[in-house]
Amino acid sequence: MPGSALEARKVTFRYEDGTKALDEISLDIPEDKKVAVLGPNGAGKSTLFLHFNGILKCDEGSILFRGSEISHRKKDLKKLRRKVGIVFEDPDSQLFSGSIYQEISFGPSNIGLSDEEVRRRVRRSMEITDIEDLSDKSTHLLSFGQKKMVSIASIIAMEPEVIIFDEPTAGLDPARANQIVDFLDRLNERGTTVIMSTHDVNLAYSWADYCFLLNEGKKTAEGRPEDLFRNDNLLEEVNLEKPGVLEIFESLKGTDLVDENGSPRNKGELIRMIERNSSELSKPEES
Ligand SMILES: Nc1ncnc2c1ncn2[C@@H]1O[C@H](COP(=O)(O)OP(=O)(O)OP(=O)(O)O)[C@@H](O)[C@H]1O
Ligand SMILES: [Mg+2]
Repeated sequence: MPGSALEARKVTFRYEDGTKALDEISLDIPEDKKVAVLGPNGAGKSTLFLHFNGILKCDEGSILFRGSEISHRKKDLKKLRRKVGIVFEDPDSQLFSGSIYQEISFGPSNIGLSDEEVRRRVRRSMEITDIEDLSDKSTHLLSFGQKKMVSIASIIAMEPEVIIFDEPTAGLDPARANQIVDFLDRLNERGTTVIMSTHDVNLAYSWADYCFLLNEGKKTAEGRPEDLFRNDNLLEEVNLEKPGVLEIFESLKGTDLVDENGSPRNKGELIRMIERNSSELSKPEES
């Protein structure tokens, strides 16, 4: 059993206007995994994430990082934020101004890395997010998607051990979105725990090792995507769509085109399964 990267224990949080955004929520983010958090608008996903690196402080309950309750002392928060990075939903709330180079190098310079190491990290982050051609441009002149890529690059440059992406693919064109998802996989392969919130059930189903569903500040369900998304009663109860691949797979169940016990997680896997089975079917019968 892997340990927990982050844990919320009976966390309740109210914003200043009295909105109860988290309501005694408890959940356990497994270390080294790819974790998706789903839930309708206003469910509390972003609020929960802001607790995970200490930007918000819960009114009741506690947040644990690797088994220890996080402390809000300035020095401890600085340490925590080197280990737990968060890419905000809205890039404008993350980016200050200046050039893209200044933006991305700010964090690494601030933690006292050598100039050479800072340059290496900035170059690498820009390469990964494919924004090298924008390097001299001022951040406030960028398009939404470009800003999002810069905000992702600036967190990657910190090389955190746990990285939280609040709706990383929202507002990105499909090629960029795929690029980001591939990158999240590579990050995870290198041992980073990756957490994302998303409204995209297809992405959560194909990408995540483990999912949490939130609603009205509470956790309504959790589990492996292949279990969660097969549970029709649950999906109906929480008003979540079934991933397209799973829907097609289930509609073909009982035919010779799909393996009865298969669980294709993406379009490619389903297509390969159908192709394999149909080529078996079209083989002449041996006599
Ligand atoms: N700064 C704030 N002041 C007051 N209420 C807030 C604030 N930010 C969020 N809320 C409220 O807290 C609740 C949870 O919001 P949150 O942004 O965490 O939801 P979310 O799950 O991230 O939604 P979305 O999918 O729309 O991003 C909502 O009812 C929202 O209106
Ligand atoms: Mg949100």
